[in-house]
Amino acid sequence: MALNVSIIIGTKGRGSNMVALSNQIAQDDRFVVHSVIGTKAEAPALAVANEMGLNTKVVPVSESYERDLEEALAGVDYICLAGYMRLLPAGIVHKWDHRILNIHPALLPKFGGKGMYGSHVHEAVLEARETESGCSVHYVTEQYDEGAIIHQMRCPVLPDDTPETLAARVLKLEHQCYYDALVKVAFGG
Ligand code: GRF
Repeated sequence: MALNVSIIIGTKGRGSNMVALSNQIAQDDRFVVHSVIGTKAEAPALAVANEMGLNTKVVPVSESYERDLEEALAGVDYICLAGYMRLLPAGIVHKWDHRILNIHPALLPKFGGKGMYGSHVHEAVLEARETESGCSVHYVTEQYDEGAIIHQMRCPVLPDDTPETLAARVLKLEHQCYYDALVKVAFGG
């Protein structure tokens, strides 16, 4: 039986990690995309997922968010956060302990934590004059970006990089790193 993977996207994200991961999963009969979940129907990534023919679900943030999300995730083996900016409810984190992954566009444990998302991350990397950056897939805990690192990929930071050029180089790595991390978690190696 294929392992059910649910991808939880962010309200504003493009959904490029969701697309890359779903396409790789489609080539791998060990996994199936169970659902793509967002908190708002107008999320651009949900529109993309719908066009791809994936099963999408909207679970609005409300007083019953934890319960509603748990219901939407019934039967799911692995949860992949892709551009989701919130902390997941504690009950979800515990129920899927070591089965929830997140991708971050820097080499954690550096450049992570609350407020470190999008261009803020790449600006901080450039300001720190790092010569190397990359992406990290880690387990999700109740804190931002703190769970154990599963897999990282690295790229150089070039002298004339802007946050945009660096982000584009890192994003290419993200699109491979997430699938590799999922395989590692599910099947080892
Ligand atoms: C990615 O850079 C990811 O590392 C971060 O949010 C961004 C989402 O981009 N967590 P996309 O929506 O997958 O294109």
